[in-house]
Amino acid sequence: MAEAANKEPVISMWSKEFTYDRWMKTKGIPIHTGYYIEDLRTVELEWWEERQCKAAFIQLLGQEGVTSARVTEIAPGKSLPPVKFALDELVYVCSGRGLTTVWAGEGKAKKSFEWQEHALYLVPRNHWHVFSNMQGDKPIRLFHYSYMPMAMSALPEPDMYFNNPYEPKNGASEGDFYSEAKMVQAKDADEGLGMRAFWYGNFFPDMRAWNKLDANERRGAGGKSVFIQFPNSELTAHMSVFAPKTYKKAHRHGPGRAIIIPAGEGYSIMWEEGKEKIVCPWHECSMVTPPNKWFHQHFNAGGDMARYLALHPPMQFHGHAEKVEDRAKDQIEYTQEDPYVREKFAEELGKRGIKSIMPDECYTNPGYEWSKAMGKQ
Ligand SMILES: [Fe+2]
Repeated sequence: MAEAANKEPVISMWSKEFTYDRWMKTKGIPIHTGYYIEDLRTVELEWWEERQCKAAFIQLLGQEGVTSARVTEIAPGKSLPPVKFALDELVYVCSGRGLTTVWAGEGKAKKSFEWQEHALYLVPRNHWHVFSNMQGDKPIRLFHYSYMPMAMSALPEPDMYFNNPYEPKNGASEGDFYSEAKMVQAKDADEGLGMRAFWYGNFFPDMRAWNKLDANERRGAGGKSVFIQFPNSELTAHMSVFAPKTYKKAHRHGPGRAIIIPAGEGYSIMWEEGKEKIVCPWHECSMVTPPNKWFHQHFNAGGDMARYLALHPPMQFHGHAEKVEDRAKDQIEYTQEDPYVREKFAEELGKRGIKSIMPDECYTNPGYEWSKAMGKQ
């Protein structure tokens, strides 16, 4: 079936409505906007005839024109019709257990792999794929993420992206494409950060259980992170894990990230410099997007370790200033933060009958060493 954007002219001076926006509107399913989605497992969906499933687009403030997100629901025992999509797509499994089959084209080997909730995997560009629900009694929800808005701004022809007859010369699904991710050490492109370890692979079976993490001293609270790269793709992600009754430093960067919560309970505060602060509560399967250059800060207000998985926008939009000399510009040290931040944290923990374990010294000593503090606990 031909994909059609509506008939409005594609080019209009200073328009902030992009080809991707017009394409979304032709599908007749909800487009959820705002700062956050409280629960991807329950967000409202509508029937999408072409894809034979219920679905919704999600375009939070800061995603416009940069990243695409949608939720699909697969009925018990059903498989969705095969689709070939021209871009790399990340899939996070919100709920359920299923199977994805991927192949590069007519006569090419098919690869199938099973997944369950909290899995993260890549569906490679220009590959046919089918999503199946292996459960007979419950629907499945999947979260999909790609750089489609950016691609469609450069090439505003929806038919190019779906079931395009182009076949990749070397199918990415050849060989052990969905074998377990491997750790790689590489020099970070950002000078001053030195060597960085990241996990390289297409399939991460359980982001809730993934414990191959490195200390991330820069963002405070003794947090640990894992950086993820996908083979033959510019898509990247990272996950941070941090302790109950602690919070990270505020920081800011570019737009378009989809932050999904695999585990934990808390909230994030987001604000544009000098403007009102927005509180976004989260728990498992919430999604938050920090808008472009808005400060944001993550708080673990629960009793367990919290995890957030950040799917990154294209590198062109990272907008980081993480070199040591730039940090003061895009990160707020605990010693410099607005008193509201600490008061709000005390109040939120108080509601749950618990208290902050943030050490007093971190509010007075900008060079406070978290690794030592966390070692003592
Ligand atoms: Fe961030």
